[in-house]
Amino acid sequence: MKLCMIGTGYVGLVSGVCFSDLGNTVYCVDKDREKIDLLNKGIIPIYEPGLEEILRRNYKQKRLIFTTDLKFAVQKSDIVFICVGTPTKKNSNSADLKYVFQVANEIKKYISKYKIIITKSTVPVATGDKIEKILQKLKKKKIVDVVSNPEFLREGEAIKDFVSPDRVIIGTASDKANKILKSLYLPIVKKTSRYLRTSRRGAELIKYASNGFLATKITFINELANLCEKTGVDIKDISVGMGSDERIGERFLRAGPAYGGSCFPKDTRALLDTAKQFSTNLSIVNSVINSNEKRKLLLTKRVKKILKNNFKNKKITFLGVTFKPNTDDMREASSLFMIPYFAKRGSIINYFDPTGSKKEFSKIKRVFYKSDIKSACYNADIVIIHTEWNEFKFLNFKNLIKNKNFKIFDLRNIYSPNKMKKNNISYHAIGR
Ligand code: UDX
Repeated sequence: MKLCMIGTGYVGLVSGVCFSDLGNTVYCVDKDREKIDLLNKGIIPIYEPGLEEILRRNYKQKRLIFTTDLKFAVQKSDIVFICVGTPTKKNSNSADLKYVFQVANEIKKYISKYKIIITKSTVPVATGDKIEKILQKLKKKKIVDVVSNPEFLREGEAIKDFVSPDRVIIGTASDKANKILKSLYLPIVKKTSRYLRTSRRGAELIKYASNGFLATKITFINELANLCEKTGVDIKDISVGMGSDERIGERFLRAGPAYGGSCFPKDTRALLDTAKQFSTNLSIVNSVINSNEKRKLLLTKRVKKILKNNFKNKKITFLGVTFKPNTDDMREASSLFMIPYFAKRGSIINYFDPTGSKKEFSKIKRVFYKSDIKSACYNADIVIIHTEWNEFKFLNFKNLIKNKNFKIFDLRNIYSPNKMKKNNISYHAIGR
């Protein structure tokens, strides 16, 4: 099939590359010429393990075309995926849909034969109705169907998630569109996953409900970790004990810092905004958002306690600053709150991240990027393990750190408290 992906961000690029690997011809469009030039050289603008190799393979086979020419790409394609960003609007919780509507207004000029228009971007319930309104003349002529097909891939595991998803959700009332999409997804669905057809609004809401629930699960375990700290219980036992109940499930029950990333914070806020518009009280989602915000400050207070109320001139090392491993994405990472907080109070921050230095910290006084673990840790009074990259999992801190009284604050519960105790290391973790 011939596909057009509008927007080469995470969702658009990964889906486009993976669809081409299934034998489709995919036109990937972006307004950003620099990005398209890079992609045409086989360079990907994001850090996603394995993606570049698949991209180069399909580019060579001429199944992947990168262009800024929207008209050309749309006219060539049978299915058009809208994959542009839906960020949070300034000073509000609502998703900014201006890019989605801009695309709809533009593509309507280029459609003269049947095409399926799909929102793959995360869009609030009833956005498809609004797109259909923009395309109403084409809808009357029966040459478009507007479908919702949300994407659930995770950064860092995007290829695996795309190729073997837990489910493929198709929201449409059109049997014709459903038949075509079923055959597009057949190679994927055949393997493991479920193909689920729902209403368009249902599909839109499933995405928010899923992200809202996962954010709730994490926040639940994070709050229980606070209780564990006060009662001398190990949160890892709770996660395993609870998670072994199949009704609960063990995934997304790892306690840690406030959740971050490009989706959970934005989508929980947008879900709350939608609920407000439809006069519905989603009190649980509201609490999750508040609890997650408060967690950022709560963890800085724990650092303060570990440092005996004294931040001044303390050397604080961060191992990892991204919101999770296997990504270079800094969006809503809790380090964005913690590092400036400590620096402002007179601490000196050295950080190392496997994906390099971050522009977010470049202008902050007393914050320094170190190009390896050793130089980041050497002088530390405290090492904060912020992100659970594999290379942080087997460190010999006594060899790495010169200062004899150093402390470790392991936000990801990587190390064993007992082993640390045996080695006389002042070790602090989450919920244990
Ligand atoms: C998420 C969803 O998983 C995905 O389905 C959706 O399409 C986009 O948002 P992503 O943002 O890539 O994916 O990251 P994810 O792996 O879900 O982690 C999000 C945050 O939750 C991270 O900050 C992570 O550290 C945190 N997390 C996750 C925990 O703190 N504990 C857990 O047990 C799992």
